Amino acid sequence: MAVTTGSSAAAAQVAPMASIEWTGEGLRILDQRRVPDERRFVDLGSVDAVIDAIATLAVRGANVLGTAGAFGYVLGVRAGLDPDEVAARVIGARPTAVNLRVAVGLAHDARRRGEDPLDVALALLAEDRDACAAIGELGRVELAGASRILTHCNTGVLATTGRGTALGIVYAKAAAGEPVEVLATETRPLRQGARLTVWELQEAGVPVTLIIDAAAAAALTAGLVDAVVVGADRIAANGDTANKIGTLALAIAAQHAGVPFYVAATWNAIDAGTPSGAAIPIEQRAAGEVIGSGEGAPSADTSVWNPAFDVTPASLIAGIVTERGVLHAPFGPAIAELAR
Ligand code: MRU
Repeated sequence: MAVTTGSSAAAAQVAPMASIEWTGEGLRILDQRRVPDERRFVDLGSVDAVIDAIATLAVRGANVLGTAGAFGYVLGVRAGLDPDEVAARVIGARPTAVNLRVAVGLAHDARRRGEDPLDVALALLAEDRDACAAIGELGRVELAGASRILTHCNTGVLATTGRGTALGIVYAKAAAGEPVEVLATETRPLRQGARLTVWELQEAGVPVTLIIDAAAAAALTAGLVDAVVVGADRIAANGDTANKIGTLALAIAAQHAGVPFYVAATWNAIDAGTPSGAAIPIEQRAAGEVIGSGEGAPSADTSVWNPAFDVTPASLIAGIVTERGVLHAPFGPAIAELAR
């Protein structure tokens, strides 16, 4: 594993901000566990290294997980490993984001047809960039007039290979010269909001205010938010949406406050084979992420329930912004229509 490190300021001058990049020999990722303290690029030269990066959230966010997984598959088959086993292992690295299964499946299918799976991975990288741009523009129009956006987790440059999904809409508003400011939830326990969303918005010059997760309902009822916009790890055929734990609480609070709750996701997050949210597998993560360490940490043997995602029922969702169009209820027929 090769590593390039540098302070954020120094690295910013030499490296474009890209969540992942194919070097010709392997996958270079920005290690998101270190952001914002360090901009550290890591070269992953094997499928095992990619799986480890996915499982430990060095690379994370549904879209970039998918693309990284496809490159991981390429590395595995190039090393002569059994392609079925490689695909199953990469897909198993994180169970909720369907993008991972879709992307690895596409690479695996291409190889079975005798094509180079690397072409698939490279195409996914470019398609994600274009899809994010389309979502940004469609969302900007759909959410015209909403300038105070509350978002959860991280759905931007770090989570995609473009400008992001939910944050892509924020960036599109900013690029169009429209007023926009973000209320970013901290996103316990791994603090993707505090560490990643705040950092990338600050880098982009978009006004951002950090709140603890527990302050979101108060912000919504206090009238501080025009719209909630979040990403998705999997959208069932009826519109039920799995996203970072805490999203459901935001949707319930938004409904109570009369604030529209939107999901922004690329089409490959829609899983037509999963009828409703009840069938979406929810990743359970280690207790240590919640317990933490050091002063004030509960004892290491404390019983913990740590689901990484929850499911928001379609009934709480005002719209789903995809690159193919904006979906409104009833989502089942709307999804089926755009799938054609
Ligand atoms: O556990 P993470 O950090 O991978 O969770 C990420 C999210 O929940 C995002 O909202 C989702 O993947 C969409 S990213 C475009």
